[in-house]
Amino acid sequence: MKLAFLFFLSFSGYLFIFSSQDENADSVGSPKIRDGCNCTAPCLNYYTYWNGYCYRGYMTNFYSADSADLKCMNDTISIGSIGHLVSIHSEFENAYLTGIIDNYSNDYLIGIHYAGGKWVAYDGTNFDFNKWDNGQPVDPDNLNCTKAMMIDGDFSYKWVTTACDDSTTYICKYPARYY
Ligand SMILES: *[C@@H]1O[C@H](CO)[C@@H](O)[C@H](O)[C@H]1NC(C)=O
Ligand SMILES: *[C@@H]1O[C@H](CO)[C@@H](O)[C@H](O)[C@H]1NC(C)=O
Ligand SMILES: *[C@@H]1O[C@H](CO)[C@@H](O)[C@H](O)[C@H]1NC(C)=O
Ligand SMILES: *[C@@H]1O[C@H](CO)[C@@H](O)[C@H](O)[C@H]1NC(C)=O
Repeated sequence: MKLAFLFFLSFSGYLFIFSSQDENADSVGSPKIRDGCNCTAPCLNYYTYWNGYCYRGYMTNFYSADSADLKCMNDTISIGSIGHLVSIHSEFENAYLTGIIDNYSNDYLIGIHYAGGKWVAYDGTNFDFNKWDNGQPVDPDNLNCTKAMMIDGDFSYKWVTTACDDSTTYICKYPARYY
């Protein structure tokens, strides 16, 4: 498990390095999903493709969770504003994001918040995975947003609650589509 995980991390790191050679290039590593489509790439410029979704880390922009989510929607305005603050559904997806941020940030907002007594995703997907750090989630009634943090140099980026007006770097995600 651990070895596979490390392999995965170096693989996603490779993707990052490859894709950062030309930020304007269409996404790399994008398999052709269906034959015969007149398609370019599954992701908008600056976004990278992984496992059916397009991701972009904003590692030098600081926004509150609601504003960051609006920024993600605005990024995808040409395709129906389907982007949102990133939801995370597996250990692999959590690790993939580590490859995207690549040490630029110790923490970043993720797209879940506490509303109506439960955790909900900004993008409307199920809350079916968590990576809470020990002792978390702390005080979700007041600290009702979430960020992933590198804690004590741990690259697995565990989650902690945070005030929703806390401005932090963030990652956007939307379902890939060819166009
Ligand atoms: C593919 O898309 C390009 C750009 O939109 C268009 O110019 C071209 O005619 C299309 N080709 C086919 C076979 O549909
Ligand atoms: C929304 O996106 C457009 C580009 O598509 C950009 O010019 C504009 O500044 C963005 N607006 C906000 C509020 O980020
Ligand atoms: C990221 O930071 C860690 C810990 O400081 C370091 O070991 C690693 O080499 C860095 N990776 C990159 C790509 O800079
Ligand atoms: C966080 O909680 C505050 C206080 O209840 C509420 O006003 C705000 O809308 C919540 N924000 C989010 C993103 O859930």
